[in-house]
Amino acid sequence: MKVIGIVGSPRKNGNTSTLVQQVLEGAAEAGAETKTYILNEMDYRGCQGCSYCKAHEKCKLEDDLAEVFEEIKVADGIVFGSPIYFAQFTGQMRLFLDRCYSLVNPDYSSRIPAGKKAVLVGTQGMPDPAAYAGVYEEFGGEISRFFGMEVKDTLIAAGCAAPGDVKGNAELMEKAKNTGMNLFK
Ligand SMILES: Cc1cc2nc3c(=O)[nH]c(=O)nc-3n(C[C@H](O)[C@H](O)[C@H](O)COP(=O)(O)O)c2cc1C
Repeated sequence: MKVIGIVGSPRKNGNTSTLVQQVLEGAAEAGAETKTYILNEMDYRGCQGCSYCKAHEKCKLEDDLAEVFEEIKVADGIVFGSPIYFAQFTGQMRLFLDRCYSLVNPDYSSRIPAGKKAVLVGTQGMPDPAAYAGVYEEFGGEISRFFGMEVKDTLIAAGCAAPGDVKGNAELMEKAKNTGMNLFK
């Protein structure tokens, strides 16, 4: 089994990265091969709207996301992690998601096999974990509809400001690890 983590925070050792890592560690303990992509460290642009990917099987932009798309095609599980910035996923994550349009056919059917497991990881300063429930529900709904992914869990670290804050939430840290361990059960 292969599980990849996609981190949309610019803080390399921030709360999002920490929680995504917990899920991946759990998956690794259960025997999965894991890999993490830190979007902020990668060289890529937003979708140019050229529709090249509708006439061809891939995106015209040959940048660092090309590898991520190849990995998504073969991965059994994907952990999507982003902080909330101004009530949405970060710009880094949004640009990446726009580019996932290249994984969709002109009739909006998927170019990747259905049945992949997905985990959503969100971190936010607001103490109410339900404050951005709509953001996660909408995203989870879209990846189910577009790609036939099964969202196994949504892990939300609320009330986080400094990079290590999530580590103080032992219950959530353990839940994240268990999510990874049980991803394919
Ligand atoms: C530019 C910016 C915008 C933010 N906007 C929000 C927001 O709208 N709602 C919220 O609850 N937290 C907001 N936050 C707080 C972050 O979501 C929070 O600190 C999160 O834990 C950061 O994750 P990281 O440690 O992985 O970078 C914002 C932080 C920044 C830097």
